[in-house]
Amino acid sequence: MSRIVFLNGSFLPIDEAKVPFMDRGFMFGDGVYEGIGVLNGRLVDNEAHLERLERSLKEIQIPNPYSRAEWTRLEEELVRRNNMTEGFVYFQVTRGVAERDFFFPTDARPTVAMFTQAKSIANAPAAEAGISVITVPDMRWERRDIKSINLLAQVLAKQAAKEAGAQEAWMVQDGYVTEGGSSSAFIVTKAGSIVVRPLSNAILPGITRKSLLQMSREDGIVLEERLFTVNEAYDAAEAFLTSASNFVVPVVRIDGRPVADGKPGPVTKRLRQLYLQMAAGPALAAE
Ligand code: PDD
Repeated sequence: MSRIVFLNGSFLPIDEAKVPFMDRGFMFGDGVYEGIGVLNGRLVDNEAHLERLERSLKEIQIPNPYSRAEWTRLEEELVRRNNMTEGFVYFQVTRGVAERDFFFPTDARPTVAMFTQAKSIANAPAAEAGISVITVPDMRWERRDIKSINLLAQVLAKQAAKEAGAQEAWMVQDGYVTEGGSSSAFIVTKAGSIVVRPLSNAILPGITRKSLLQMSREDGIVLEERLFTVNEAYDAAEAFLTSASNFVVPVVRIDGRPVADGKPGPVTKRLRQLYLQMAAGPALAAE
């Protein structure tokens, strides 16, 4: 069965879904996106993702084409049409199609494109064994809180990681870790508290980060929302990352150095477990 995608009001086989040449997403990267994890056929933290979408659109002055209920219906329909039980739903909204000109077009309608990617999240081997990261300079613009489709700095950062045999890049500004190329970055101190950079324009407000912090509070884990340096990360008891497409993943090497004994630590394992339970949904978690 061919993959079904959603484009501007229609569900179509992917080969039939065409975006016009002059789309401002293609020409200027003039748009924003969201990505939502799916487990047991269920969208994880969808409301919070839609809330972040509303904010991203507002910040760049693109009208939101759908209500939250409409977005949810489209996402669920796409998951259903692709028979996807586990993976990722991606969608983007661009300013639409217009002759190339920097000023906002007056008569364009936003382009909406949505697709699914089937993928194993709960039993992904990397999530069990842990991954390696490298650190790279953060070369991005000053509004990283907007989930812009402009991802060139992240593409270069993650490619550098791949070439170094690592799976993610942690970006660094003024000696402090900002975040991963496509994930939020955390360390655990020797005293067992979680350290994560506070929200600002310097990082994306990760939805998985938000849920995880909530769960940690409820679990009695001490949180320190503050900046941390690369050296502090090298020296940490544990490190991990979060994202909608991977949930919670242990980081066991940073720039080739093992984090503690180079194995996933107990705090990270517990948080991964808690997040998986939440993501699995109330009925399944209770089994
Ligand atoms: N990336 N930071 C950046 C720069 C990201 O691109 C992402 C998500 C995150 C984590 O946010 P969330 O928990 O809401 O997924 C942090 C997605 C998964 C992607 O681009 O594929």
